Amino acid sequence: MTAPIAHFNGKLLPLDQISISPLDRGFIFGDGVYEVIPVYDGVALRAREHFERLQRSMDEIQLANPHTVDEWMKITQELLRHHPGDQAVYIQVTRGAPQKRDHVIPKGLQPTVFMMSNPMSTPSREAVENGVACVTSRDFRWEKCHVKSTSLLGNVLARQLSVEAGATETILFRDGKLTEASSSNVFVVKDGTVYAPPRDNLILMGITYDLVMQLARDGAVKLEQRHVSEQEVRDADEIWLSSSTKEVLAVTKLDGKPVGTGKPGPAFKRMHALYQEYKAKLAKARPVTA
Ligand code: PDD
Repeated sequence: MTAPIAHFNGKLLPLDQISISPLDRGFIFGDGVYEVIPVYDGVALRAREHFERLQRSMDEIQLANPHTVDEWMKITQELLRHHPGDQAVYIQVTRGAPQKRDHVIPKGLQPTVFMMSNPMSTPSREAVENGVACVTSRDFRWEKCHVKSTSLLGNVLARQLSVEAGATETILFRDGKLTEASSSNVFVVKDGTVYAPPRDNLILMGITYDLVMQLARDGAVKLEQRHVSEQEVRDADEIWLSSSTKEVLAVTKLDGKPVGTGKPGPAFKRMHALYQEYKAKLAKARPVTA
């Protein structure tokens, strides 16, 4: 079987023909940023927004972007020609490979660009209909969680806590307040209002989070952005996860206890329907990216 086609520094190559220097700062320091873009039957969802966020991440870490957003969109289309169907496109840009290991940010280094695409499976019917279990933890990550950095050890260790508990995600609290989960944003619902933690440096500004905000606005769902206390999460009628690969998913068990009735609630069902309608419209319009 031939290896899947990936993008490496301007070239499309079989994945097994790509090699990266051990001195690459992505390998040595986790000095890089990334994106994950969901693609539904060849149509990338909010690709422009993902590349705009990539730009913001690069600005935050003082890394010059080797491509404009339009160039990124074109490269993505070229890669997707080799990957039909529902896909998750992964894009990583590191600071490149210098001659020696040194913390100091080197000048004039060519960034390393790597992109691959993998089949994406949206959440199972069972997960949508019954919801998923989550555990909680203190948010022990750094203070620049708005940067989509490849330095993901904090997220990896947080996720592992839920793996060990047989759960889908780990929901994080910092100083008694909800931030997000190890690789998803989190919303809670109380008395019919959806609450979303504010967009600050302590969470990743999710593209799906923004889409949920837009769908709530257009669908007349009451949504407020404000801090949510740990107690409010534990007392919530509903909890949702959102991400490019999870879409919107109800959390029906938290730390072993049922959330609300223990079944996905009415607000979730409405948002999930709005999300699926949005996807269906996208498929009909059939632009290459949307
Ligand atoms: N994760 N918060 C964190 C920490 C994330 O890693 C992600 C996404 C999100 C949701 O962002 P978006 O809606 O833009 O996907 C929130 C991706 C999917 C990943 O690392 O695989």
